[in-house]
Amino acid sequence: MSFNTFGHMFRVTTFGESHGVALGCVVDGCPPRIPLTVEEIQLDLDRRKPGQSRFTTQRQEADQVKILSGVMETERGQVTTGAPIALMIENTDQRSKDYSDIKDKYRPGHADYTYEAKYGIRDYRGGGRSSARETAARVAAGAVARKVVPDVKIRAALVQMGPHKIDRANWNWDEVARNPFFCPDPVKAQFFEEYLDDIRKSGSSIGAVIEVVAENVPAGWGAPIYGKLDGDIAAAMMSINAVKGVEIGAGFGAAELRGEDNADEMRHGNNGPVFLSNHAGGILGGISTGQAVVARFAVKPTSSILTPRRTVDRSGAETDIVTKGRHDPCVGIRAVPVGEAMMACVLADHFLRHRGQNGA
Ligand SMILES: Cc1cc2nc3c(=O)[nH]c(=O)nc-3n(C[C@H](O)[C@H](O)[C@H](O)COP(=O)(O)O)c2cc1C
Repeated sequence: MSFNTFGHMFRVTTFGESHGVALGCVVDGCPPRIPLTVEEIQLDLDRRKPGQSRFTTQRQEADQVKILSGVMETERGQVTTGAPIALMIENTDQRSKDYSDIKDKYRPGHADYTYEAKYGIRDYRGGGRSSARETAARVAAGAVARKVVPDVKIRAALVQMGPHKIDRANWNWDEVARNPFFCPDPVKAQFFEEYLDDIRKSGSSIGAVIEVVAENVPAGWGAPIYGKLDGDIAAAMMSINAVKGVEIGAGFGAAELRGEDNADEMRHGNNGPVFLSNHAGGILGGISTGQAVVARFAVKPTSSILTPRRTVDRSGAETDIVTKGRHDPCVGIRAVPVGEAMMACVLADHFLRHRGQNGA
């Protein structure tokens, strides 16, 4: 299975399956002499890990990361050496027997049929490589990426669940850490408690929209024509499991605007030009403007639900399926730290690419 690597100069390869011994990543191209501790990586992983509230899967994974290579203890503490950084997370709470009933059935909305069509074999235990367990490795890599671009502040939040959008007037980043939804609107977060409880108890699931914001990205990162920053961010977000749509800045909303409303006007500020709005999402011509880089992605509802669904099995017979096992009623919640990690990896890569061509 090829294509487990992304990035050019900050290059991440992930490995491992949902019910395998361990998963992880190798980060190649991380500059040397960057302070990096296991605790820093763990902080990000703890935000993604399952079983933290009744609104996420009850699979209990400690998601304890180990740094296997690429760092060394110095008088300045532990720093990167420039060698590949290998990070490993052991799987500890696999319950493969949960999947024995559906071993020969294709779960609707999952990659079961396509993996088998492509490889002639599929790991039915939790979806193997197609499982979002893999995103733990991305979050670990993202924690390293953040250290490569320490001045850039990367945060994400859940801004919509089902048809219910947050009230942007209530946006408070501090709220994101105070509720189980990573929601910046405390009023909507309160509403989501009952809303998602009802969905969860009925054995169903719901979709969500996540917004990722990167501040302090200097003007100039990203490369025309085939290395556009927005192109790489869109690809990175779209590669997250269950993501079905990505927007940059005004995104699809730009189609409803007139030119005079959409183009971000400019004025002269103390440190160069300032923009009077940010419909561009901080990127023009594939290159960062110095404004906040803003991306949003839509996450589909969890496919594994208790409601029986129609499907076919490997022999081609029509059958019904009920997906037992432990699942997130809204996978968008745990996708929030994953979106941050992907943004961090893309920005670290583009910072190094920019420096490679233009110098510091
Ligand atoms: C953090 C996260 C957790 C997920 N957990 C589940 C889950 O518990 N059950 C499920 O059916 N899908 C879950 N998914 C989505 C599936 O992995 C995904 O829909 C499936 O592999 C098919 O891939 P695709 O939707 O990208 O086409 C999760 C996705 C993310 C990002």
